[in-house]
Amino acid sequence: MSDVAVIGAGYVGLTTAACLAHLGHRVVAADIDADRVERLNRGEIPIHEDGLPELVTEGLESGRLRFVVGASVAIPDAEFVFLCVPTPQGDDGAADLSFVERVVREIAEHLRPGSVVINKSTMPVGSTRTVQRILSEEGASIDEIGVASNPEFLREGTSVRDFLQASRVVVGCDNPATAVRVSELYAGVRAPIVVTDPASAEMIKYASNAFLATKISFMNAVANLCEAVGADVNEVALGMGYDPRIGFEFLQPGPGYGGSCFPKDTAALMHTARRAEADFPLLQGVIDGNREQHDRMVAKARRLAGGSLAGVDVGVWGLTFKANTDDVRDSPAVYIVGRLLEEGAIIRAYDPAARPDAVDLPGLTRADSALEAAKGVGLLVVLTEWDEFRWIDHTDLADAVLVKRILDTRNVLDAVGLRRRGWEYEGVGR
Ligand code: UDX
Repeated sequence: MSDVAVIGAGYVGLTTAACLAHLGHRVVAADIDADRVERLNRGEIPIHEDGLPELVTEGLESGRLRFVVGASVAIPDAEFVFLCVPTPQGDDGAADLSFVERVVREIAEHLRPGSVVINKSTMPVGSTRTVQRILSEEGASIDEIGVASNPEFLREGTSVRDFLQASRVVVGCDNPATAVRVSELYAGVRAPIVVTDPASAEMIKYASNAFLATKISFMNAVANLCEAVGADVNEVALGMGYDPRIGFEFLQPGPGYGGSCFPKDTAALMHTARRAEADFPLLQGVIDGNREQHDRMVAKARRLAGGSLAGVDVGVWGLTFKANTDDVRDSPAVYIVGRLLEEGAIIRAYDPAARPDAVDLPGLTRADSALEAAKGVGLLVVLTEWDEFRWIDHTDLADAVLVKRILDTRNVLDAVGLRRRGWEYEGVGR
């Protein structure tokens, strides 16, 4: 059991704090938002994560988890300090480390000798060195204070499972003894632990996300080709996935990837490549192809509406960047709805989890149910793969819409059944 501080109680920090407390460590999680801290100490979880409320309650009740305001309050007793602060995408694509720098300067004087600062947030290759430099500048001795990279591989919606049933734990540190100490925090997580140098650990994170994004953009391109040659991309993905070198995961075509990670991390890796003058045209293709896929969905909608969306009542299902999350950050759905509105569509959108004020698009009306969003529309557009869309009653749906026309950008609906019932159905790749 160790004393751990987690700086930043967002998607990554909250899951990291709750899971480390669950593993038996004494955890103090700090955030700058006093209201958020107060709600967290009452067990109120502001994000949509399976299992997280239960773990936070367990931690609070056991006394192994508490939340405080301000990083320096959390540090004095901590042997390990996890940095889980935002690293947003800068204008040039580089990750913005200003939050990291501010926190490191704030905590430097409070760090106890022998403690270890651990970069959990996704940070560019070289960030461990950056944190070491800042600590030195603030007078902390890097002989006494360890620094390690320990990137997160958490998917929103399943972050608790992804932490406790990790496929691997990666620790990047120059000091083997420090690497062992960090690895021991994960006792109880049955996963291979990859101990390597900091740059390799940081690159593992970016290369992993960039590869997953590549799989998605690749399958979106295959889907578009399937449409041109009359193949069914779902059948193609099935036939591909049996090859263990390919696997079945991340072969689902759609409107393009989104979220707070893939777009940011692919841009950051592209920036790293350019700065290192080691260009990466394949990755640029993935990035460009993803934006083109969003625009391709807009073109599909325009074509289905007869060539123009001006004045067309359009029902939209889904605003979050994927199902089982409430997050709309960098959501393809939000981008596509914005483009449809620009072309004059009259849109009513329903999402089971996106907060009512989450999407600020002039002219967008929110509906309280899928059928309400479909009522009287000339075109229905599915943008997120929520299960409730999959199981909607087709008779009720046919009664609700004005015209039986649907663009299913997630291939979640029964194309054959709908077409048999007279729907004009368009998916992606089938
Ligand atoms: C991702 C990585 O999966 C995770 O390992 C990393 O730590 C953070 O970034 P996340 O962004 O939460 O996690 O969601 P993910 O489930 O990976 O989906 C990302 C995007 O890809 C979503 O927009 C999703 O709809 C899309 N996607 C995913 C596809 O279009 N097709 C797929 O087959 C899978």
